[in-house]
Amino acid sequence: MVTSNDVGRVEIEDVVIRFAAKKGEVTALARTNLTLEPGTFTALIGPSGCGKSTLMNAIAGFVAPSEGRLTLDGCAIAGPSNDVGVIFQQYALFPWFTALGNVRFGLKQFKLPRSEEIDRARAALDEVGLGPHADKFPQQLSGGMKQRVAIARTFAVGPKVLLMDEPFGALDAQTRISMHGLLLDVWQKHRATVLFVTHDVDEALLLADDVRVMSQAPGRLIRHYPLRQERPRAFNRSGSQLLDIREEILGLLRPQDTLSAF
Ligand SMILES: Nc1ncnc2c1ncn2[C@@H]1O[C@H](COP(=O)(O)OP(=O)(O)OP(=O)(O)O)[C@@H](O)[C@H]1O
Ligand SMILES: [Mg+2]
Repeated sequence: MVTSNDVGRVEIEDVVIRFAAKKGEVTALARTNLTLEPGTFTALIGPSGCGKSTLMNAIAGFVAPSEGRLTLDGCAIAGPSNDVGVIFQQYALFPWFTALGNVRFGLKQFKLPRSEEIDRARAALDEVGLGPHADKFPQQLSGGMKQRVAIARTFAVGPKVLLMDEPFGALDAQTRISMHGLLLDVWQKHRATVLFVTHDVDEALLLADDVRVMSQAPGRLIRHYPLRQERPRAFNRSGSQLLDIREEILGLLRPQDTLSAF
């Protein structure tokens, strides 16, 4: 029997992604092998243009790999599905729908009775603390609130996998910190498998079970840091080793170090 603890395994096997370019082809992602275990939180970090979004797009089913295969719970990923939710840096909300309307939109496909659809959407907004703002339109909400609507909309659908591409990149530092707590709370409740792209090493170290670092373009995975420190995490806690890991990753991301290491 499949339980919630063993759904959401993503396997990326020998995947290479190339795009057509003016002069032949460009390799956006060099050969990549990666398994995301069910319910784990992986942060992906790497230089601009190394292929992070390309990898996300492949897992989301938006882009087909040129080589290799991607599976979710053993089934080939052949296109977008409800099993894989995606949250981008830009909130991607419909401006003509309220917060509630945006969450309901994601639920339309289930053809639920109207009252059940509304209840489910309200519950999702409550979960991210937006219950009192359910009837506001996106332009009446702050950046953090808009991203909370996006999180509510995605989790309401019940994805097995959640892909987040620099989701908090446009937010101020204070809002980011509160979004970290909120995301961890919602994730721990739903236990989706999360792949989280960020340029912020600290964000990766504070959130993830596993931090994966990519090389310069064409990117491939060059380091894996399993983090087993309890959350909420702090850099200055004695014995946490987070500061050492942070220095190491920052070193890897400096262009000359990345080149000389490989
Ligand atoms: N649809 C596409 N067609 C052609 N080239 C593409 C396409 N998508 C991405 N690329 C190229 O693939 C490479 C990797 O791009 P990608 O967007 O995955 O990088 P990234 O790691 O997400 O960068 P950033 O950190 O700046 O978001 C880049 O050279 C990019 O120009
Ligand atoms: Mg990107």
